[in-house]
Amino acid sequence: MHFPNFMQILDGIALSKTIKEEVKQVVATYTDKGKRPPHLAAILVGDNGASKTYINSKIKSCGECGFESSLFTFDASIGEAELLQKIDELNKDPKLDGFIVQLPLPKHINENNIIQAISPEKDVDGFTPINFGRMALGLPCYIPATPFGILQILERYKISTSGKHAVVIGRSNIVGKPISILLGLNQPSGNCTVTLVHSKTIHIEHYIQQADIIICALGIPHFLKSEMVKEGAVVIDVGITRVDDATLPKGYRIAGDADFENIKNKCSAITPVPGGVGPMTVAMLIKNTLLAYQRNYGDH
Ligand code: GUN
Repeated sequence: MHFPNFMQILDGIALSKTIKEEVKQVVATYTDKGKRPPHLAAILVGDNGASKTYINSKIKSCGECGFESSLFTFDASIGEAELLQKIDELNKDPKLDGFIVQLPLPKHINENNIIQAISPEKDVDGFTPINFGRMALGLPCYIPATPFGILQILERYKISTSGKHAVVIGRSNIVGKPISILLGLNQPSGNCTVTLVHSKTIHIEHYIQQADIIICALGIPHFLKSEMVKEGAVVIDVGITRVDDATLPKGYRIAGDADFENIKNKCSAITPVPGGVGPMTVAMLIKNTLLAYQRNYGDH
């Protein structure tokens, strides 16, 4: 049996707009009382095209929600010590509620050293060991923006997760690892039975075929095909890969990890690429910055 008539597009653009509008209204209640707005800063190192696009989108969303934003850009040749010095400065800046260091960083910089230097109170990406540990324990924290966005999609589209089998493909620190933990927690959009599969998994399709919910976060365009998808599964496609396409003005198109055309008649719901998880990541970073503002400054 096929579900073509029931296949639901999980619209991350519309949902991210709703969430940003909610944030904007909360911000207005503070600024109307004469408080300063939330302030997010971003550090961008080098000239990775995708990173620049993401940062521009984050900065733009700050403006849309009434936030102040600051962008600090550095040449790819910056040394680790200089970057750590900047992070120390931002950690100590009382006018700043949160900041992010856009990843990836140039190879000569140790990403772990950089992430661990960020104050957990300002770590609105939720990348520091303190926030990751708190997340795993179900304690108040900053949930990494992409997993947070996935949870919001599931919650707001009322996709029931309790008792369902979720298969997470990919074990990155930013997406696969945290979402595999979050889906198993005893909380809304949790209570899944979770299987985490990755590049070393033998017979990966065997596990994916059993999933009620598939989180595709491996970064291989069009990896997920119809024969791997159980009839009626929900597919969350986290892939955002630039694929060369000389017919387009930009010279590339954005491809997801799921072969949308191939699987669309098999799944019950799917996030499109672009327009699914991507915009939600930005919205949840904004939401985390509002939380940081409320925790560190606004709500007292
Ligand atoms: N690179 C890819 N995704 C992200 C993200 O969510 N935050 C940061 N800082 N870098 C990224």
